[in-house]
Amino acid sequence: MSVSVDLKGSGINFKLLKEFEIEIKKAHKKLYDRTGEGSDFLGWVDWPIRYDKQEFERIINTSEVIRKKCQVFLVVGIGGSYLGSKAALEAIKGNFYNQMIKDTPDIFFVGNNISSRYLMDILEIIKDKEICVNVISKSGTTTEPAIAFRIIKRMMEEKYGREESARRIFATTDKSRGALLDLAKKENYETFVIGDDIGGRFSVITPVGLLPMSVAGIDIKKFMLGAASGYEKYKTPNIDDNPCFKYVAYRNIMYSKGKKIEILANYEPALSNFSEWWKQLFGESEGKDHRGLYPSSVNFTSDLHSMGQYIQDGERHLFETVIRIADQNHKIIMPKDENDLDGLNYLSGKSLEDINEKALEGTFLAHVGGGVPNCIITVDTLDSFTLGSLMYFFMVSCGISGYLLGINPFNQPGVEAYKQNMFALLGKQGYEELHEKLLS
Ligand code: PA5
Repeated sequence: MSVSVDLKGSGINFKLLKEFEIEIKKAHKKLYDRTGEGSDFLGWVDWPIRYDKQEFERIINTSEVIRKKCQVFLVVGIGGSYLGSKAALEAIKGNFYNQMIKDTPDIFFVGNNISSRYLMDILEIIKDKEICVNVISKSGTTTEPAIAFRIIKRMMEEKYGREESARRIFATTDKSRGALLDLAKKENYETFVIGDDIGGRFSVITPVGLLPMSVAGIDIKKFMLGAASGYEKYKTPNIDDNPCFKYVAYRNIMYSKGKKIEILANYEPALSNFSEWWKQLFGESEGKDHRGLYPSSVNFTSDLHSMGQYIQDGERHLFETVIRIADQNHKIIMPKDENDLDGLNYLSGKSLEDINEKALEGTFLAHVGGGVPNCIITVDTLDSFTLGSLMYFFMVSCGISGYLLGINPFNQPGVEAYKQNMFALLGKQGYEELHEKLLS
């Protein structure tokens, strides 16, 4: 079993769990029967078993070409168009991918902010390197990546000329519409498709996530097999066999008890971007109609020396979800020291992995004892297969959870407000009235 959910630190008894099971079953059915709100965006549910195999082969072939051709791969995208691949890259290849892995290109993520410093620094780092670019936008009109891409396109054309630059730029976007598709057609870029029925934050299992992962040397076949194993497992509609049910029950029971903040905790720094992906998945899916848990994250043990104080002793409106990796496969053994001046000989012969595990157990006891309910989600190890399975686990849980909350988990109307104001303030055509209003 690659993902399991342990609720012994949750304080939830079997009876309460069973009561919630009935509601969860209904929400689960809505997801699988496509009868809930936003059902036009449920293409991801069976995507792990029905993905376009030809396009998948093209992703693998293209990534080989990119690996041979370039030293740097720029991924231009924001939100669901980059968080999944960034999370996967770090989880599988580690925190120091660009410094350590030399047989695949360095990968930089751009277009996920409007900082000139960030973009300038990256352009400076890569200026003498061979570059390929993957511009990713489902809508094809999102401002941040569009701005970055205009600048990068200019840089590529100055460096390589228009024709060669077109051979180095790959666009991932909608099949039939959008400004990016029009541009890709005009410039003759190779394109990959995000299905109409798959929203950005559920798109890590599509070319959005898969091309950058494959360029980084991640085994995307195994990743998809992991997601497919999740598909088989998580369609089971009962709490005993489906770990999504337990997790959904846990977080919704917590919410009903007034615990409005969910903290995703990890003990592995390679999961810090996984938490960013998770926060977007749940935050953008559930935060609607003035409802929804606030998803936050901590990286332990680092954050035990910062947020640990608040979690242990601060306001009791929190609960924790801990990701535990059963077998890390990276062993460092504590050496024995003759003088033992640091007093650490009691640890000699133990692996850091074992010590980290004890930190997890100790923290679990402290936090549960301090009134912070805990759920531990264990994955066997951190590889392409388990990552696919874990990401898919959270996607299904998010869909069910959103339905249970009574919102549409698959839209994001709230992200429009800042855009409208920004467009008006920047003087975009059509926003004159709002501009006046904002200034008055
Ligand atoms: O989950 C979502 O739908 C969003 O976060 C989008 O991924 C994000 O806004 C980027 O959109 P696009 O891919 O259209 O540029």
